[in-house]
This record gives sequence, C-alpha cells and structure tokens, in this order.
Amino acid sequence: MYFNSKLPNDGTTIFTVMSNMAKEFGAVNLSQGFPDFEPDPYLLELATQYFYQGKNQYAQMTGVPLLRERLSEKFNGLYGIHLHEEDEITITAGGTQGIFTAISTLIRPGEEVIYFEPAYDSYRPAIELCGGIAKPIILEGPDYTIDWSLVRKMFSAQTKLIIINTPNNPTGRIWSANDMLNLQQVLSNTEVYLLSDEVYEHLIFDGKKHESILNYPELRARGFAVFSFGKTYHVTGWKIGYVVAPPLLTKEFRKVHQFNVFSVNTPLQYALADYMEDPGQYMKLNHFYEEKRDYFLALLSGTGLKPLSCEGTYFQCCDYSELSSENDIEFTKWLVKEVGIAAIPLSSFYHNPPNARIIRFCFAKKEETLALAGERLKRLRKLTQ
Ligand SMILES: Cc1ncc(COP(=O)(O)O)c(C=O)c1O
Repeated sequence: MYFNSKLPNDGTTIFTVMSNMAKEFGAVNLSQGFPDFEPDPYLLELATQYFYQGKNQYAQMTGVPLLRERLSEKFNGLYGIHLHEEDEITITAGGTQGIFTAISTLIRPGEEVIYFEPAYDSYRPAIELCGGIAKPIILEGPDYTIDWSLVRKMFSAQTKLIIINTPNNPTGRIWSANDMLNLQQVLSNTEVYLLSDEVYEHLIFDGKKHESILNYPELRARGFAVFSFGKTYHVTGWKIGYVVAPPLLTKEFRKVHQFNVFSVNTPLQYALADYMEDPGQYMKLNHFYEEKRDYFLALLSGTGLKPLSCEGTYFQCCDYSELSSENDIEFTKWLVKEVGIAAIPLSSFYHNPPNARIIRFCFAKKEETLALAGERLKRLRKLTQ
C-alpha cells in the first residue's frame, strides 16, 4: 500500500547513523549528546526508594506538585521571580515533548515559525506536522552571530512563533543580554509567541551568565520556556523535562499535553523533587563541564582541528578545513572508519546547509573516553597528508 508520508524528507537521523557506525567500527562515540558516565548514586537511591514506596501509578497530569514547587523555588533563587506552580509549570516527557506540545498548541496550517539554523532537529518536523511553515534564519560559523535586521525582515502577517535556543546545540554559542533586548524589541507590538529552548541553562562557561526569557518580563509574558532534567542531572534516558509559561498559555498547553502523554513517570518525579532540595547540584554543573571542555580542547591542540568558541552546552565544534576538502558528511564517515572517532557533521543541523567544513563533538564523556579520543586524534595529520 502506498503511504503518503507527512515527513517525506526525514529519514533515519544522522545521530542514529553515526552511533551505528561507531559500533560497527569500534569508534569512540562523540557523536550523540549524552554522558557516558553515571548520575549521582544518591539520585539513583532516591529513584529506587520511590519504586518501593508505591509511587508507581499515574502522576497528576500537570506533574508531581512537590517537583513543581521545587522548580518554582529554583527560579525564585535564580531570577527573583514568583512562578505559580499550579498554573505556570508543567512536567513533560523530556524537553522534546515540551517543544512538540508547545508547537502543537500554537500552530495552525499555513502559520509561519521563525527559528535559527543550525538547529536542534525536532523543531522543523514539529512545525511541519502541524501544517506550519518553517522559516529558518541561517547563521554561519565561525561566530554564528545574529543579524537583527535580517530577523526583522523575516516577519510577515503569517508569523505566529519564533524559536530560540541558548546555550545552543550544536554551536555552543550563547545569547547575550543585547540579543535578548533585540528580540524584545523585534517582538514588541506583534502578536508573535516565543518558544525558548533552555535545556542547557546550567552548562555555561567562563563566568558567563545564561540569559533566560524568565528574566525578561516582556519575553516571559509571551513565551514557553523549555527545560530538561536529562541534561542537568546526567539522566538523558529518564526523559523528564518541564515547560514554564504564563497561565493562559499553560492552560492551552495542558489541553494538548493531556491528550499527548497525559502524565510523566511518577517515581522519578518524586526522586527529582527530593534531589532538587540541594541547588548545589545544578549550580556546580558549569564548573564540571568547563573542566571537560578544557580537557578536550587540550587534546585537540596540534591535531589540525580548529576549535570554534564554545561558551556553553557539552558540544565542541571544530573546523577541519586544514585537514580535508571533503564535505562534512564524507569527512565524518572517514573519521569514524579510519580514525575511530564518531562526530556529527554540522550540515545535518541545517535544511539548506552552507558550504562549511565544521563537525561537532560531544565532550560529556568520562576522562578515559576523551583521552582515548585524544590518542586517536593525534594520528589525524599523518592520515590526511
Ligand atoms: C537543544 C535541545 N533541545 C531539546 C533537547 C531535548 O531534551 P530531552 O532529551 O529532555 O528531550 C535536546 C537534546 O539533545 C537539545 O539538544
């Protein structure tokens, strides 16, 4: 039977392809973004405890109240704001579901969504599944700076939503206060909503500060902010996140959420609520990942891979043009087969990629994993001569 695909241009993602190739060639897998180390044993203890304490049935549709309370306290500590957990915070099955549900809540066929590429791969399919029109603004390396006059030009009468992501996957760049003010200005006097993907909020380096829409009242009033426990507590496989939005938006969001997942893993929500009692756990994340970034940067030195600026996330982008003139897909395939390192070509984060020679590595790995990658990368120059 013929199937008329709703996503005709989306096949198996490059992340799956690279992870499979990494296995096939025994490569060090620095492609997909997840830690290869375990979370804090105390968090695991809490989770186990709640499995045996009878917390095994459906949670509240909106999320376990104590967890939402803890989140409200967290943002009070971070930005001095008072979020009402009852009608402004919803627990989701990871950041991706939060993004998908927010887009489904807002977008009707023919409405336009502006976002910046390179971008996390779920935005465009989510827009298109709702019948929306994706309008990417192309940012190019090495700096990926935003041309605000171009952003203004992208707006039309059909524009319904703009999506931002800081710290950014894949570039590792962050938005400045000036970017936020520019966004605020562009959005003022419009009816355009905002979706702010902040899943890497605590992974930010060199003493820099995360710019959250929650800290900008005008942006917060029209926005959904999306977060992920997976990134913050090294538990990407738990797939638990949350979405913060003003009451009116949350009300509509929950209408979709209740028919989408209804509720999220109960015992793990209780465990996360207890674990969040200590804000130190997320406050020290910057330092933890900054050390890993610096270690990885030292390993790259002399390899011919030129690291781009990484201000946040656990991704390091590198320009390989000194080593090869192949396109980035061919180069990553070669890298996994001949050097034994799996990375992601940056072109896979664009709909129409610019002609750049940049690849992305994930450094959320144990020291020995990174050290082994470093050993292998030492051979790069010789192999490319
Ligand atoms: C930018 C960005 N947004 C959202 C997500 C999704 O987070 P989760 O694993 O909680 O669904 C990711 C995960 O890689 C991401 O990189």
